[in-house]
Amino acid sequence: MSQPFADWMGSVQARTETALSRFLPPAESIPGRLHQAMRYSTLGGGKRVRPLLAFAAGELTGAAPEALDAAACAVECIHVYSLVHDDMPCMDDDVLRRGRPTCHVEHDEPTALLVGDSLQSLAFDILCRNKEIDHGRQLEMVRVLARASGSCGMAGGQAIDLASVGKPLTQPELELMHALKTGALIRAAVLLGALCGPAMAESERDLLDRFAKRAGLLFQVVDDILDCTASTATLGKTAGKDAAADKPTYVSLLGLEGAQRFASELEAEALQCLAPFGIRSQRLTELAAFIAHRKF
Ligand code: IPE
Ligand code: IPE
Ligand code: MG
Ligand code: MG
Ligand code: MG
Repeated sequence: MSQPFADWMGSVQARTETALSRFLPPAESIPGRLHQAMRYSTLGGGKRVRPLLAFAAGELTGAAPEALDAAACAVECIHVYSLVHDDMPCMDDDVLRRGRPTCHVEHDEPTALLVGDSLQSLAFDILCRNKEIDHGRQLEMVRVLARASGSCGMAGGQAIDLASVGKPLTQPELELMHALKTGALIRAAVLLGALCGPAMAESERDLLDRFAKRAGLLFQVVDDILDCTASTATLGKTAGKDAAADKPTYVSLLGLEGAQRFASELEAEALQCLAPFGIRSQRLTELAAFIAHRKF
């Protein structure tokens, strides 16, 4: 019988922590202040959902764990960079992240800016150092992560988010914003994990991509719900920020119950995409349920 989900999750989280610690520059190496801040923001916190998705997708394609370490850490570095910048005063202006002071509060704003810049570069460096993967596949992985991170992915979604403060969006507009600011990196995590294994048939790749898109949107819909239902202590970040900042969210658009219903629909659609894979998609199936029902 396979390992219980909670044990599998714990082991991937621990493995990711070790690998990130190895990939990050040592705290004492010059410039120490920047390297300490990079390690402060990246290590010792977070659910590691994107690394978990990469490992789960890698299990589906039969990828080697050593190759998955790089894929998982690269996408987590981009994610942490996005959090550090998202929290800065010029963006969401948050003081708490992962239960600790945000990077610019613990250090200072210029350092937080450079932490984001440096983590972004480190992500691509990690992908290019993945010895388990041939060069052609490495290039494909770099392209997947670059597109997911840039102006047509996460950064673009953040731009729409900032431009939408105080404006009610239509559901298609909100879906696009969420698909970009959060969905793109979740999708990249799944694709990068899968790309660490032998090539998939195009039909399987399409199905996995459909799953990843649903899971990505689901992740941000649940983030919107938790922002107004969970406590600051449970979340490890300030609750109630979206309403306070007048951000358009699924809760502001559909109401709490409407958002919860939409999340259930997305979960069902995501699971449907995985059904044809049978047991190979066990971890992804479990993760979709985790994303839908998480409490933080
Ligand atoms: C928070 O992401 C920001 C979003 C994209 C919604 P997570 O909820 O994955 O944050 P950590 O990594 O667990 O702290
Ligand atoms: C963040 O969305 C998406 C990112 C790209 C970081 P939020 O602004 O809702 O994330 P939290 O709630 O601060 O984690
Ligand atoms: Mg934000
Ligand atoms: Mg925020
Ligand atoms: Mg949020």
